[in-house]
Amino acid sequence: EGEQPSISVNPAHKTAKINKNIYSGFTEHMGRCIYGGIYDPGNPLSDENGFRKDVIEAFQEIDVPVTRYPGGNFVATYHWLDGVGPKENRPARPELAWLGLEPNEFGTDEFMKWCEVVGTEPYLCLNFGTGTLDEALGWLEYCNSTQNTYYANLRRKNGREEPYNVKYWALGNECWGPWQVEQMTKEDYAKKAYQWAKALKLLDPSITLILCGETGYSSWDYYVLKQCVKWDVHGLGGDRTKSLIDMHSIHVYTADKEHYANATAPRGAERAIQMTSALIDLARIENNVPHTVPRPTICFDEWNVWDPVRAPGELGAEESYTLSDALAVSIFLNGFIRQARDMGMANIAQSVNVISPLMTTKDGIVKQASYWPYMLFSRYMRGWTIPVNVRAEEYEGRTNPEWIRGTIETPFLDVSAAIDEKGEVVTLAVVNVHEEKSYDVKLDGIPSGKQVDVYTVGGDHVQAGNMGGKEEVKIVESKWDAKDSYVFPKHSLTLLRWRI
Ligand code: AHR
Repeated sequence: EGEQPSISVNPAHKTAKINKNIYSGFTEHMGRCIYGGIYDPGNPLSDENGFRKDVIEAFQEIDVPVTRYPGGNFVATYHWLDGVGPKENRPARPELAWLGLEPNEFGTDEFMKWCEVVGTEPYLCLNFGTGTLDEALGWLEYCNSTQNTYYANLRRKNGREEPYNVKYWALGNECWGPWQVEQMTKEDYAKKAYQWAKALKLLDPSITLILCGETGYSSWDYYVLKQCVKWDVHGLGGDRTKSLIDMHSIHVYTADKEHYANATAPRGAERAIQMTSALIDLARIENNVPHTVPRPTICFDEWNVWDPVRAPGELGAEESYTLSDALAVSIFLNGFIRQARDMGMANIAQSVNVISPLMTTKDGIVKQASYWPYMLFSRYMRGWTIPVNVRAEEYEGRTNPEWIRGTIETPFLDVSAAIDEKGEVVTLAVVNVHEEKSYDVKLDGIPSGKQVDVYTVGGDHVQAGNMGGKEEVKIVESKWDAKDSYVFPKHSLTLLRWRI
């Protein structure tokens, strides 16, 4: 208390490039994400492919660069061949991750078509549960090969001459989890992932391979990085400028009943990025990886606020999001911007329905409270990250996870900044977590008299939300002349945007 809060930003000090892929999505065969979400044939809101047009428009509004598919946990019993070819021949299968039935009406070709319509790049996750390396190689060949070979020809037979050129491939999903049909030890996983990586890159050296990590701060992460991030003359034909593993995946979900613990929890996700980054360096040091080999980046391919107890739907899904959750999502995104150097990709889980900011009904779509920060960040926080110095009061209460305290601060004002690709427009993102206090903040770095565009996401109280026919959380646009200090409203996200 006492001193006026201040934020200082210097646009001349660009630190790291922001990879636009941090705004990526995730569509899983889970709940209503695929069926009734992106794919809803027969619904008047769908196009001739059965794709929901309102969902496509929302993906385009966000400008989702990459979309991960088909799981998640679902992928651990998924056989891609079941989902290609004439629909009448496709088998229905028991689905063991969510104990449902998979009709296989939507598969690889439908997903690729959907990606083309949306304008997003596909990212496929391989089955490390019941799947084999042969199957994985077949899927890669089906998607990417131009040769006169069996699976490439099967793709042609199914109506697609040109390869899909799928760049991103994950070596399994959450293989460490006790919920997997074949939970793996880190030793078994690392061995298998390394062998699969070599084979996959022999077939198509241009792909980006993603290793299955845990949270970024577990012994699993340490071990699998150590075993797999090495330079291997056999795997890469002796090329010292290529790596077998290009990214390391981590997942973090946060949630808490109490507002402050809920909204500040994603500070822990930022800490997870820092810890993962250190483990990547450690693996490279311990394995003497030549410095010419590219350093793996982090693929944060599942993140969100998720409380399966609070969610009313089957599977602990269909989560209703509040303004408090929207602030948590904003802090996740601020963390991705601050840690841009390490971030290769991030995928909100999921992109529609399940635990998404976007919920469909039979006759429309709801943009939940957490949709708006995601949309604003994707639209404006691109280019380069620029460091900020913040003086703000500190939240001293309970945090979740508890270990945030002592490893990373939890100020009431959580801030990041970006300058666009051309170096012309700066955007400052400020989350005021406080439930009662609006902060009058001295801003250093915005020339007085500048015309500043202001976007504010807020609502009357932290439990405000948009489900059930309400529209309590939205974006309010305004202008500011930068002549004085700026008052950041209580429980809000504010983006200030000006031309330098
Ligand atoms: O996003 C829901 C589920 O959470 C995913 O299927 C799984 O990977 C994670 O446990």
